[in-house]
Amino acid sequence: MSEPAVDDPRVDALHERMAEHSLGGHWQKKRRDPNPKLVPHLWPWETVYSCLLESGEVIKLGGINDAAKRRTVNLVNPSIPDLKATSRTLQMSVQLVKPGEMAECHRHTAGALRFVVEGEGTGYTNVNGEQMIMEPNDLVLTPNWTWHDHQNPGATPLVWLDVLDIHLIGHLDINIHENYQDARDGQGNYFGNASQPVLYPDGFCRQRFGPIRPRNGAEDNRFLPYTYKWAEARAALDAMAEAGERDPHDGVLLDYVNPLTGGATMPTIHCRVQLLPPGEETRPHRHSSSTIYHVVEGEGVTTVGGESSGGNDMAWTKRDCFFVPSMDWHAHRNASKSEPAILFSVSDRPVLESLGLYREEHA
Ligand SMILES: [Fe+2]
Repeated sequence: MSEPAVDDPRVDALHERMAEHSLGGHWQKKRRDPNPKLVPHLWPWETVYSCLLESGEVIKLGGINDAAKRRTVNLVNPSIPDLKATSRTLQMSVQLVKPGEMAECHRHTAGALRFVVEGEGTGYTNVNGEQMIMEPNDLVLTPNWTWHDHQNPGATPLVWLDVLDIHLIGHLDINIHENYQDARDGQGNYFGNASQPVLYPDGFCRQRFGPIRPRNGAEDNRFLPYTYKWAEARAALDAMAEAGERDPHDGVLLDYVNPLTGGATMPTIHCRVQLLPPGEETRPHRHSSSTIYHVVEGEGVTTVGGESSGGNDMAWTKRDCFFVPSMDWHAHRNASKSEPAILFSVSDRPVLESLGLYREEHA
């Protein structure tokens, strides 16, 4: 963006001199708008999945720009393609671990979670020594600075959604990453391995920190490695649907809470799952958090935008992902008259809430 013409050479000279010294007048326009309005967007699963499988053929783990040795395809908001980001705070990507492969052990200050899409129940994420088995639609948390590696000892591909608060962490200048291989123990010896040892069986964290637990406290109970099993989430959705308990804006709605604090799933990311009964149409609302959805099952339409923008209909089907920006009105409709639709979603709501910036309006 060029500077508007000013009919005064003294002003031009001032602008030039300030620029030389990395200074700017508040009256000057930004050269480039770094904060364009994010747009709603839908990524059809068919396309995402075919690109992911193709990457499994042509992209070698640890190859181009891949210090983390992961094979992921990023969902990119069309408003900010240069940032390769789904939103300004969160990143959703899809990861593939082929049979016999491993994604090496590391840890980072970015908090992360996995929502399993495809797997036969033998693949797992090792989080701080617990072998967390990944069955379809399970949610696995790998919070800030927990060691994690992913293993697929099975015969079929393991595919999941990765969600990280990496863009928020980047804005805060605190993006630190460490590979297990290069880390040292208390005596200064390198760990030297690509994966960490399995120390605890699946379910260890649920037993230690779930609703029936020893009387203890985690060092910082906001950063809890944990797994939420789909069988339990689905049973709860069905029971609530049966009882007719519905949120007017989201249908049958469940929160994945931190079992120790009762609050958000993680300090920076909140997860929910909602069921829209057959034919359900929700009432519009909007809020200052932005949300990325994944269709667990069913098909429907999410309308984004108010009367002024005319509304943008995003028609979705099983496994599609879509984004609803902050402060955009939105409402969901289940297109089927006979089958429920289920949406898993992640949002940056805990960040907005902790800063006193969470707002919500109902139509
Ligand atoms: Fe990671």
